[in-house]
Amino acid sequence: MIEMHSVVRRFNGPAGQPITALDRIDLRIEQGEFVTLVGPSGSGKSTLLFTIGAMMRPDAGKVILDGKELDAMGPGARARLRRTAVGFVFQTFNLIPYLSCLENLVLAARLSGDSRRTAVDRSSQMLQRLGLGERVRHRPSELSVGERQRVALGRAVIHRPRVLLADEPTGNLDPASTEQVMDLLRELHAEGQTIAMVTHDPRLAETGERVIGLRAGRLVEDRPSMAKGAVT
Ligand SMILES: Nc1ncnc2c1ncn2[C@@H]1O[C@H](COP(=O)(O)OP(=O)(O)OP(=O)(O)O)[C@@H](O)[C@H]1O
Ligand SMILES: [Mg+2]
Repeated sequence: MIEMHSVVRRFNGPAGQPITALDRIDLRIEQGEFVTLVGPSGSGKSTLLFTIGAMMRPDAGKVILDGKELDAMGPGARARLRRTAVGFVFQTFNLIPYLSCLENLVLAARLSGDSRRTAVDRSSQMLQRLGLGERVRHRPSELSVGERQRVALGRAVIHRPRVLLADEPTGNLDPASTEQVMDLLRELHAEGQTIAMVTHDPRLAETGERVIGLRAGRLVEDRPSMAKGAVT
């Protein structure tokens, strides 16, 4: 589903010094896998997700998403792939503030090619499923933080992306909201959704099947999660 071959991504630091955010990363994520990404702040976790999701180009190496080599694609094809094959949950939600919850989801569904009617039907169903049936007309600012993150998750998967990329989706949530979001991720995974999730919480890191650790842009750990180890 996802392959990275010797992927390098550099930035210029505040004083112009080079920072290697991804340092020759080799990684393969299979279809249906639930992997968690861990590592200290600045280790390259978000950069890795952005690179997989075709939101950022590597300086060297190769990324293959769903059988397509991202660098061989033009900007139009990349944008299409991003809208159809990738679902992204940001730590800060990035919902559109002047649209209702429903319209936030409808927009994502429309961008992936759904008709208006299909988009509205599927978006309403998704909000029901997220326990937000009473909130469809609300704007993000009228929701609790946990509710907003559930809307963001709904928006990320409304178009049935091949891969769901979640950057600390529970970073700002209280324990109850965290559980709701994690339950949803587990449900989606049980339905076959491929998921890569960044987390700083060592307990949540064991929710998936596989834990990948980064440090200073290098891949330093790749092991089955404890949950997985316990059942096999
Ligand atoms: N747009 C950018 N410009 C310059 N440097 C950047 C940029 N984006 C990331 N970096 C640098 O690349 C490195 C990796 O950043 P990244 O955001 O991937 O880390 P992270 O592991 O997601 O950290 P956090 O846990 O704090 O979110 C850091 O040193 C960061 O400062
Ligand atoms: Mg980050």
